[in-house]
Amino acid sequence: MSTNKPIYACMRSIGAYAPPKVLTNADLEKMVDTSDEWIVKRTGIRERRIADADTATSDLAVEAARDAISRAGIEKEEIDLVLCATVTPDYFNMPATACVISHKLGIKNVQAFDISAACSGFVYGLSIARAFVEAGIKRNVLLIGAEKFSSIVDYTDRSTCILFGDGAGAAIISATEDRDEGIVDIHASADGTYADFLMTPAPGSVHPASCEVIEQGLQYIKMKGNETFKLAVKTLTRDVREILLKNGIEADAIDHFVPHQANYRIIKAVGDALKLKEEQIILTVHKYGNTSAASIPMAINEIYEEGRLRYGDLMLLDTFGGGLTWASALLPFAGRN
Ligand code: UT7
Repeated sequence: MSTNKPIYACMRSIGAYAPPKVLTNADLEKMVDTSDEWIVKRTGIRERRIADADTATSDLAVEAARDAISRAGIEKEEIDLVLCATVTPDYFNMPATACVISHKLGIKNVQAFDISAACSGFVYGLSIARAFVEAGIKRNVLLIGAEKFSSIVDYTDRSTCILFGDGAGAAIISATEDRDEGIVDIHASADGTYADFLMTPAPGSVHPASCEVIEQGLQYIKMKGNETFKLAVKTLTRDVREILLKNGIEADAIDHFVPHQANYRIIKAVGDALKLKEEQIILTVHKYGNTSAASIPMAINEIYEEGRLRYGDLMLLDTFGGGLTWASALLPFAGRN
């Protein structure tokens, strides 16, 4: 590649992995005071996947990454940056899960670090990968969103335990000279005013690990669900409208709207605001629940494996999560089936 031509970052491949164990709404009915009817009506979720006790977030990530690497048609030696978006890392707080993943994949001597942006982590990671590639610093970034959310869920708290699942998704973000393959735009924002809407209070410097922390259940996810829901709909509707307008793209030009899979009602509200047709909206929330940073790459992988995602298809991604963070992205798929 000549150095004087502009370089663009493109999504060259996608892969994903969901652990085999299924946790259904019927299973949850036996664990907490809830019902299949309530869960389906309020969230659209029917089941989610749960990793075994001896499976770490990095193990889920490795499975997804292997598919992404082979589908990109590159050797692992060509990867020069490994990014893992996760809020359920193998270890709090070091080493980074990206380092563990690199080791398990046999990728040596590359820069590797984690991104902590909760459910927005994959799109945040996409913006970081893009910056490294378009600056000419890296050529093939392995970008992963992986979560073992079951490790921070309180299975006696009906307001959260019905929502989350485990899984991983991965993509290769590569350098290209073909502008048509490149990422069009990414918006990524945060507002710490709402930090307490979605948090795991411990362990951390505020509440280091202690018996008291465990007794109080501070290691589990806490969420102000309804407040988060309202803000998510308002923010995402505004954000996707802005990114389309800024880039002069009409909603009907989007081949696949791939939203973060937190709640069917949030996805529907944003889809309706853009007047999207049903076939444009990618839904996996019914079978995987909310897998946080993994949800968008898992959803992209779903349509790839169904043969619905073609080279050049335009995708609109949007996401909202703890921080609070949110992000949207416009990009063509630059992989081959
Ligand atoms: O991924 C990061 C971003 N996350 C999100 O965007 C999640 C956003 N939030 C949501 O998806 C929704 O707020 C929930 C699905 C979590 C909750 O739905 P909601 O319609 O906002 O319900 P609510 O929290 O206002 O609760 C309504 C009622 C309450 O009972 P009362 O006070 O009205 O008697 C809850 O106690 O539903 C009750 N409830 C349940 N009932 C049966 C809460 N959880 C359950 C449950 N089963 N699992």
